[in-house]
Amino acid sequence: MNSKEFLSDLERRAGQGGGEERLRRQRDAGKLTARERIDLLFDPGSFEEIDRFVTHRCRDFGMADQVVPGDGVVCGHGRVNGRLTYAFAQDFTVFGGSLSETNAAKIVKIMDLAIKMGAPVVGLNDSGGARIQEGVVSLAGYADIFLRNTLASGVVPQISAIMGPCAGGAVYSPAITDFTIMVKHTSYMFVTGPDVIRTVTHEQVTKEELGGAMTHNERSGVAHFAVENDQECLLLIRELLSFLPGNNVDDPPRVEPADPVDRADPALDTIVPASPNQPYDMAEVVRLIVDEGYLLEVHEHFARNLLVGFARLGGRPVGIVANQPAHLAGTLDIDASVKGARFVRFCDAFNIPLVTFEDVPGFLPGTVQEYGGIIRHGAKLLFAFAEATVPKLTVITRKAYGGAYCVMSSKHIRTDVNYAWPTAEIAVMGADGAVNILYRREIEQAADPAAARAARIAEYREKFANPYAAAQRGFIDEVIQPRRTRAKLVGALQALETKRDRNPPKKHGNIPL
Ligand code: HXC
Repeated sequence: MNSKEFLSDLERRAGQGGGEERLRRQRDAGKLTARERIDLLFDPGSFEEIDRFVTHRCRDFGMADQVVPGDGVVCGHGRVNGRLTYAFAQDFTVFGGSLSETNAAKIVKIMDLAIKMGAPVVGLNDSGGARIQEGVVSLAGYADIFLRNTLASGVVPQISAIMGPCAGGAVYSPAITDFTIMVKHTSYMFVTGPDVIRTVTHEQVTKEELGGAMTHNERSGVAHFAVENDQECLLLIRELLSFLPGNNVDDPPRVEPADPVDRADPALDTIVPASPNQPYDMAEVVRLIVDEGYLLEVHEHFARNLLVGFARLGGRPVGIVANQPAHLAGTLDIDASVKGARFVRFCDAFNIPLVTFEDVPGFLPGTVQEYGGIIRHGAKLLFAFAEATVPKLTVITRKAYGGAYCVMSSKHIRTDVNYAWPTAEIAVMGADGAVNILYRREIEQAADPAAARAARIAEYREKFANPYAAAQRGFIDEVIQPRRTRAKLVGALQALETKRDRNPPKKHGNIPL
């Protein structure tokens, strides 16, 4: 074969992955190929592939005869919504998408470029893990990627899509990245698979139960999004990127708002029920306020007592953090605290203002929570809000009780603008609990204990079930009409446009992990 023939053969084979039969198996499994995924991720025609001709160097286990140009991963950069983005897509049809020395070097190369260029990195994972034939050099490749993931954290956004297997130590790359999306039924993640578990702990569990999309979206919180198929996954990545800046010194991209910034929604005036114990849907409150009612929820299925996600206010991306009274009465528990803390830190790292909607009766009581370390985990959320220097705005819609009041972006931890609705109740605890502690003996000894109790509860509510004591102290800047919340938040964001705040110089803080 002369050099011209050699090159055209290489060119032809580079686009064919592991060959027709394996590509067919990939499609039969309901999955797109690596190149099809790349095509859907990027704006049409914008993808520039690099290292298309890289091949592995392994000569053992018959590998010298099995050389595929590109070596099982498609890498490069292109435009997503017109903005520079780097990506790699593991090709399961080539040695099961397994990670070799050269394959890792390709991924590391685009990660280094992304950090230098200040552009997001998207990883499309579909791999049998470390390339078994290569041994330690493959493991070294993983470690090289983990290091880049760590160095890139807080510098450029990193998004991982799990679109097939992701097992063993390989899971730690997605785990370090900012967002993990899993495709239902075709993806799974676990550190040790069902066979090992059966041998070691005698538990019987399927791959899907152990590490399927909903397991990690609902139970473990490892994944932030679950999608139906590859197409939906790639569209979601594009959508998510539309809220994010390219890097930590850029501002998030703005759009021209189609929704009037002063739109007043009268439905907000009556959305909080008269009874303090009656639930309502905080997602609905958020949708009535943000641009075009659009909220991209993150971790939608996990710790549903706290809602986090991206929305826009006056065309400007914001991170929403909101207690959800429709789940566990909106209490903060371990999972909600960790979920919230991670989201707050992401927004703070990438200059995305934080808007908090608060209706929280306190931390969830119980031995499960205390033994599980709610003290340590709850502190994460407090730490995250306190250290955040992006514009911070809070709206108290109803309860703001106890420690949770302090945690949920209160004025005391450097929140710039704190609003309360007239329905806000700011107190050390709810009326029932307070009266039980303060007046137990008096009520027991009363001629009519029920009447005595009701009188004390009414007295307590009169004093504390309103936002005015806090407003008198300046802990609340303004008590606002609920229907005007959108206009007030948009105005406050504009006023905070030039905010500059910083933490004392340090190597890094010691968030209670
Ligand atoms: C080399 C691999 C491979 C691997 C799969 N293949 N995994 N080649 N190294 N790790 C190859 C297969 O030989 C096969 O080649 C092709 O990929 C497809 O694999 P199948 O088994 O036919 O596919 P399927 O039935 O869908 O099963 C997929 C699978 C299984 C569940 C991923 O292949 C599997 O269990 N692989 C090994 C997984 C594993 O234990 N990896 C190491 C994890 S530890 P042909 O030529 O037949 O198409 C790890 C450490 C990371 O990764 C360390 C970080 C610190």
